[in-house]
Amino acid sequence: MAHLIAPSILSADFGNLQRDIELINNSQADWFHVDIMDGVFVPNISFGFPVLKTIQKFAKKPIDVHLMIVDPDRYTEAFKDAGANILTLHLEASTHLHRSIQNIKKAGMKAGVALNPHSPVHLLEDIIADIDLICLMGVNPGFGGQKFIENTYAKVSTLKKLIIEKKSKALIEIDGGVDFENYKKLVSCGANILVAGNTVFGNANPTEAIDQLKKII
Ligand code: DX5
Ligand code: ZN
Repeated sequence: MAHLIAPSILSADFGNLQRDIELINNSQADWFHVDIMDGVFVPNISFGFPVLKTIQKFAKKPIDVHLMIVDPDRYTEAFKDAGANILTLHLEASTHLHRSIQNIKKAGMKAGVALNPHSPVHLLEDIIADIDLICLMGVNPGFGGQKFIENTYAKVSTLKKLIIEKKSKALIEIDGGVDFENYKKLVSCGANILVAGNTVFGNANPTEAIDQLKKII
């Protein structure tokens, strides 16, 4: 499949949120990536349900919600109601990952699992066949605009092999530090979805930045 681009709303202009959502609607971007941070799992607080519901109101593309919160199971239904199509929780924040994934699917969403830079891919080997998406963090989660961690390339390749070996249908998403320098290599290693915050919204022309991230040749 051709790779997908998911601009991260964390880097949007919240004073002009509707304008930035329409910009994504009218671009080549595929999904909205929405970061939820609780100030406990990560050292930052982003936004919660009222903002997510505003995104839901205007978004015409799937909403990919990335939970950087402790105890994510408490809010599965609430995120469904607020518009999440894909709900991703962190392996590091989950005690009963299998149960959490089943609950997300039961609620009618695609289930994703995110891995911090220090978590090895092999920790997913007994669960990978049940997961729809694996989000490999290219930075330590919590902030946009950080430098990409080079070890991520090797993790993408290892994960790709594991997916094939286990006959999983999981898609590989890269989140954090994706830029014009690394996006092609990430896709060639096996990435299916590229999240981009600063590279899109930090650009003078976000629509052109998305066009560029879509280009492989
Ligand atoms: C980081 C978030 C990312 C962030 C990416 O914790 O999960 O989604 O918005 O931002 P960039 O692309 O600027 O690194
Ligand atoms: Zn994210």
